[in-house]
Amino acid sequence: MTANARRKILVTSALPYANGSLHLGHLLEQVQTDIWVRFQKSRGHDCLYVCADDAHGTAIMLTAEKLGITAEQQIASIRQEHERDSAGFLIGFDNFYSTHSEENRFWCESIYQRLKDNGHIASRTITQAFDPEKQLFLADRFIKGTCPRCKTEDQYGDNCEACGATYSPAELIDPVSAISGAIPVKKESTHFFFKLPEYEAMLKEWLASGTLQPQVANKLREWTDAGLQEWDISRDAPYFGFEIPGEPGKYFYVWLDAPIGYIASFQHYCDRTGHDFDSYWQPDTDTELYHFIGKDIINFHGLFWPAVLYGAGLRTPTAVYVHGFLTVNGTKMSKSRGTFIKAGTYLEHLDAEYLRYYFAAKLNASVDDIDLNLEDFVQRVNSDVVGKIVNIASRCAGFLRKGFDNKLTSTCAEQQLVEDFIGGGDAIAALYEQREFNKAMREIVALADRANQYIDEKKPWVLAKQEGTGQQVHEVCSVGINLFRVLMTYLKPVLPAMAEKAEAFLNCSLDWSALDAPLLDHELARFKPLLTRIDSKHVAAMVEASAEAQTEAVAPPAKAPLPAAQATQPRGDIIQFEDFARIDLRIVEIVAAEHVEGADKLLRLTLSLGDSDSPADQKQVFAGIKSAYQPEDLVGKLTVMVVNLAPRKMRFGVSEGMVLAAGPGGKELFLLEPHAGARPGMQVK
Ligand code: 2FM
Ligand code: ZN
Repeated sequence: MTANARRKILVTSALPYANGSLHLGHLLEQVQTDIWVRFQKSRGHDCLYVCADDAHGTAIMLTAEKLGITAEQQIASIRQEHERDSAGFLIGFDNFYSTHSEENRFWCESIYQRLKDNGHIASRTITQAFDPEKQLFLADRFIKGTCPRCKTEDQYGDNCEACGATYSPAELIDPVSAISGAIPVKKESTHFFFKLPEYEAMLKEWLASGTLQPQVANKLREWTDAGLQEWDISRDAPYFGFEIPGEPGKYFYVWLDAPIGYIASFQHYCDRTGHDFDSYWQPDTDTELYHFIGKDIINFHGLFWPAVLYGAGLRTPTAVYVHGFLTVNGTKMSKSRGTFIKAGTYLEHLDAEYLRYYFAAKLNASVDDIDLNLEDFVQRVNSDVVGKIVNIASRCAGFLRKGFDNKLTSTCAEQQLVEDFIGGGDAIAALYEQREFNKAMREIVALADRANQYIDEKKPWVLAKQEGTGQQVHEVCSVGINLFRVLMTYLKPVLPAMAEKAEAFLNCSLDWSALDAPLLDHELARFKPLLTRIDSKHVAAMVEASAEAQTEAVAPPAKAPLPAAQATQPRGDIIQFEDFARIDLRIVEIVAAEHVEGADKLLRLTLSLGDSDSPADQKQVFAGIKSAYQPEDLVGKLTVMVVNLAPRKMRFGVSEGMVLAAGPGGKELFLLEPHAGARPGMQVK
């Protein structure tokens, strides 16, 4: 990995939509990309990272309309917020742009023209749902109605949030436009299609080439095996996007112009810096192109995009690097639990580098989901970064300042140890290159353990109190600082701000190519704290703020779980209003109910808060309602649950909350049933 030829590498991460804030899921991807890019730069390569806001489409147009602003105003204000948040997480874009740009218009038109000239565009009339009031065609997610399976009202046109069924909007009962409430009508319109089936051979070869991760290639092969369909790349007016030249009232579909935005952002970078543009896009180029994306958009990047590029006579990507979803505390990010955390909310409470390190410690080259476990997050960052890495410098710095004017020894007392640390660099670099960041962090922390062990064995704090051992203290601490320098060089792609502070303290730049030259006879600057421990109070405050953001104007805000003892006060005990106000009542759906062996009164209920169908989003509650209900009569019913009750271990298992029932008992016990129109997850006020 050393002394490579200088590679020319262009890297992108997915373009965030310009109609919402960035959340930690976006940041997982941007941090992964940024670490990889910073690593490539640190190895001396010409590596550039471009991104942009994905600014077109119906959703953005409607958001702007709702806010009473123009789409241009909407995307300008979101762009500012996105740039601020990414910068807060130290994402070092070389260029951040917008797909609503003249460069992008130029490239969309020119790619479309090339595809058309080569006979790869078809046009035909199709019939779609149309909102007669708003005068616009309705995509599936803009149609709502009653689920044909479970009969839950107010479901989207493509799937039911209550029972998980998928269907076409035509199957919905009593469909209405989600935008105006009008009943949709059928209407014909001419659309333009990219003839994807013509690329079957090319795509099969691309999928077999090893360019994609095996799981991704396998998934995409399901599409090619099922037979590729022509891809509809046009949308009718009104639409916020680029009008198709020569086709008044027809616009390029946002998913055609979004990836072209990668080219446009790079063009903008080259125009403003004089960097070479053309050589990056020729089919026979020796430059490299990498797209970092999430697993939800692999069809666009793994099938449509390479085919469009190929059809237009441009290069295809060197690789598409796909990561999994971010979960928080083991489940999908949830608004009701306060774990749907916006980037801006995180930054109001915590240092970006905590999360950068934690993500690095979890990320690898697979598409597996990454879990941000908030307890583990605090523990891991405090232990690895503060307790191990920072500790090396802080424990040596004091002795060097007090006894040696901040000057290091002129020879190295532990040549072999320092060489071992430097020798670890090639393996660590290889792990960064392969995106095995978790393994790289493990190697680095193992080295930090060795450095701390060395200092522990030499005990400079004991030597410093003895007569005639000053030279040894000087040597041990100088070695410690040299080991710290090597470790911080390895960590610089992950912790750029901390590395900058370390550079100021070490009075040298942390440069991979300078690793071989230890700091000898070298003066340090005064040591300043590099990173402080995470206080879990701040994590709790961030979760609370995230929950509050969802339930604004709703009293009471979600708080920490009630201690079980408090929520089971004996009848008649007085509790304060504040305690009562802390009870978080939610509508839940009973998705399963069963008898509990050996229990006279209990039924085991599986309750869904409606976040997803995943078992991870469901709670188990033991309820004493067996005398009044048969389990099979309960399934599918909605009821009310106390969701922030601390879990209680019972003889039959853990009960994770309570359902509310009233009545004298026996057969006359009635589960609370919410009003019609209530949805799982809704807060009961
Ligand atoms: O899924 C998304 O959030 C899209 N805005 C990503 C676009 S990536 C690229 F194709 F531009
Ligand atoms: Zn349903």
